Amino acid sequence: MPDNASVPQLSPPFDPLEGVQAGGPAGAIPFVYGHPDPDLLPVEKIIAATERALRTRGRLALQYGPEQGYGPLLDYLIGKVERDEGLRIARANIMLCAGAAQGLDTAARLFTRPGDVVLVEAPSYHEAIATLRDHPVELRQVPIDGQGLVVEALAKRLEALSLIGRRMAFLYIIPTFQNPAGITLAAERREALVELAAERGLLLVEDDVYRDICFEGRVPPSLFELAGGRGVIRLGSFSKILAAGLRLGWIVAEPEVIQRIVNCGLKGNEGGANPFVAHVVAAFCQEGWLEPHIARLVAHYRTRRDALLAALGREMPDGVRWTRPSGGFFVWLTLPEPLEAEAVLAVATERGVIFTPGARFFAQASEGGGRRNLRLPFSFLSEAQMAEGVRTLAEVIRAKLKIQSSKFKA
Ligand SMILES: Cc1ncc(COP(=O)(O)O)c(C=O)c1O
Repeated sequence: MPDNASVPQLSPPFDPLEGVQAGGPAGAIPFVYGHPDPDLLPVEKIIAATERALRTRGRLALQYGPEQGYGPLLDYLIGKVERDEGLRIARANIMLCAGAAQGLDTAARLFTRPGDVVLVEAPSYHEAIATLRDHPVELRQVPIDGQGLVVEALAKRLEALSLIGRRMAFLYIIPTFQNPAGITLAAERREALVELAAERGLLLVEDDVYRDICFEGRVPPSLFELAGGRGVIRLGSFSKILAAGLRLGWIVAEPEVIQRIVNCGLKGNEGGANPFVAHVVAAFCQEGWLEPHIARLVAHYRTRRDALLAALGREMPDGVRWTRPSGGFFVWLTLPEPLEAEAVLAVATERGVIFTPGARFFAQASEGGGRRNLRLPFSFLSEAQMAEGVRTLAEVIRAKLKIQSSKFKA
């Protein structure tokens, strides 16, 4: 008899457009997905770019490509980084990959040894935590506050780990418009982090997929730039700025790192990351369509963020706090003591609203982080859905607070 307990279970089917998700009723308001808004996917322009790619370079586009990725798209990205950030990189610094997710998996495959420690923020992106857990490493977390990673806490953690002889492979960090907390690492902290990492010889894996989704102000320089291009692997993606289904991203790093990845290959992507898609994206970008598209996304997501913040301000009872992200897709909500997100989720689910509770974003569950947190993405739901979802959540939270206070009085 097969041991069913050890057979991996497939997730129940879900359709993000219908809002049907594991554990949630059909038709529920899914405050779950950090997906781009499907109405903003530039379908017609992708059709035109596909036609152009096939008509002009069809025989190249449909062939295996170079491991580093399609050259004209790399050149476009090099130009974009220089235009947006004033940062000059060379062809030797960049390669394509099948999304930032593959970039992280590749970093873990090539730059860890069994038993190494990999450091992650607390909280961090849950899918990245899952990717890292696929490798024989131990995850340790470092707290963040309103300014991002607490660099002194990282220094202490590094000290403690090195005293017991542990090898630290790298720190995985989302310094800009973080998923799940919506927080951006302050400029001074970036400097301090890069200095500490250089002193300790700690590799930084910088996940920068939300950099372009900036609603106000300027994004501080990347860790890659501050480190002078050494000791940092920076991940970018077309998922948030063009279409997640393309599965196309890029890695920026020092030439030796790029060369090593090129030599070892991207797992499952011999012949370069998705050459056909890279040709289509190159055609899209060469038409000059990406910049106005990003400007449209930013305006749209800013309105969505404002709508979510306004709904929270209107509906939530005293004692509930939340972040005010200046970019990205997420608001991070903190419940007052002693409310727990899982308890709120249980009732909210019955009432047709689902969300991802905060504990899922912590790599060291035993430390108990995130118990009072909810991640609320504003990228995917309509303003009306968010308003209704927040109203329901606020009612559930208010009811639970009432029960708590009557228990306390009794
Ligand atoms: C922080 C972060 N990194 C990476 C990804 C995934 O990027 P990609 O689609 O390029 O693999 C996401 C998607 O939600 C994300 O939030």
